[in-house]
Amino acid sequence: MAFTSLPAQAAAVDCDRVKCLALTFDDGPSEHTPTLLKALKKAGAKATFFLVGKRVEERPEIAGQVVKQGHAIGNHTYSHASLPTHRDDEILDELKVTQEAIEQATGVRATMFRPPYGHTDERVLALADQVELAQILWTGTTLDWQLRDTKKIKAAVLKLAKRDGVILMHDVVPATVKAMPAVLKELKKRGYHLVTVPTLLRGEGPTAGVSYF
Ligand code: NI
Repeated sequence: MAFTSLPAQAAAVDCDRVKCLALTFDDGPSEHTPTLLKALKKAGAKATFFLVGKRVEERPEIAGQVVKQGHAIGNHTYSHASLPTHRDDEILDELKVTQEAIEQATGVRATMFRPPYGHTDERVLALADQVELAQILWTGTTLDWQLRDTKKIKAAVLKLAKRDGVILMHDVVPATVKAMPAVLKELKKRGYHLVTVPTLLRGEGPTAGVSYF
């Protein structure tokens, strides 16, 4: 089946009818993100980027490109903090300052966040609800930052791929970005439609204060 034109894809994909997978990239934007964006565009794939506020301030134009290409974005805190170890006001600050940085750079307000290191608890989730954010975890993590090897990262993604899965990677890891053209090609060959997290949720979310995956 041919991929439709890029802007139409998100609306056209119905994950109840076709095999969907969400690739997610954390910790950017980085100097490697534009290369990743090119690979995604070439493959007709959509992804979700969880952006670090401090890095959005450093590279606002790259954050803007991510949104322009039709990818989804989320909040990954301002300083990549392990949230449960912080006070309420500090957690709110981490989330709110990042919301502002993302909105300023992209014109879009994030509706999702992902806690750094996956460190979270009920208190963090309740505070995220105050900032109108849903929590997005994952079904599989590649540990790409440890592997740092294109072939191993490709093998890890393919092993974790499953219908309605959410795979965690990092666009700050050069080997991940380098692996993507071959990974995308193989996933498409296996019949996956590569979609954003909101598309994977079939338009029923993300809802603030709810934790997904
Ligand atoms: Ni992270």
